[in-house]
Amino acid sequence: MRPYLFYAIILLALAVSLPAWAGGDEAIFVQKCGSCHTKGGDASPVNPADKAGVVWKKYFKRGRHPGDLSTSINEGEMSSILGYLQEHAADSDHPVAAAIPK
Ligand code: HEC
Repeated sequence: MRPYLFYAIILLALAVSLPAWAGGDEAIFVQKCGSCHTKGGDASPVNPADKAGVVWKKYFKRGRHPGDLSTSINEGEMSSILGYLQEHAADSDHPVAAAIPK
């Protein structure tokens, strides 16, 4: 293969995957939590800005969520989601109120 073609393919691959990295945690949140929490779904929509960061942390640490989520959300996904919730919580610099539309 010609070298420039090789670099072009790498650049293209980076360009395609960057948005996925940037929005990765939000995508996991919407996919996993949003499977139940949607408008008209089993549970009402939830969003990071519904609670303060420390409240999110305690909510899951104390096992307040009804039902067992560990069957559908693994540990790595859960820690990504928790990071996302706290980073965009009500008292954060960038609150997100409608990742899952209300
Ligand atoms: C298997 C379905 C399901 C999944 C997946 C799920 N939930 Fe829930 N959740 C429920 C149900 C059912 C309730 C109780 C009914 C309600 O409050 O709407 C609930 C309640 C809640 C509540 C309390 C209600 C409130 O508004 O304070 C929060 C917060 C919550 N879930 C957040 C989450 C987050 C964050 C995730 C992803 C990590 C998640 N849930 C994943 C079904 C689910």
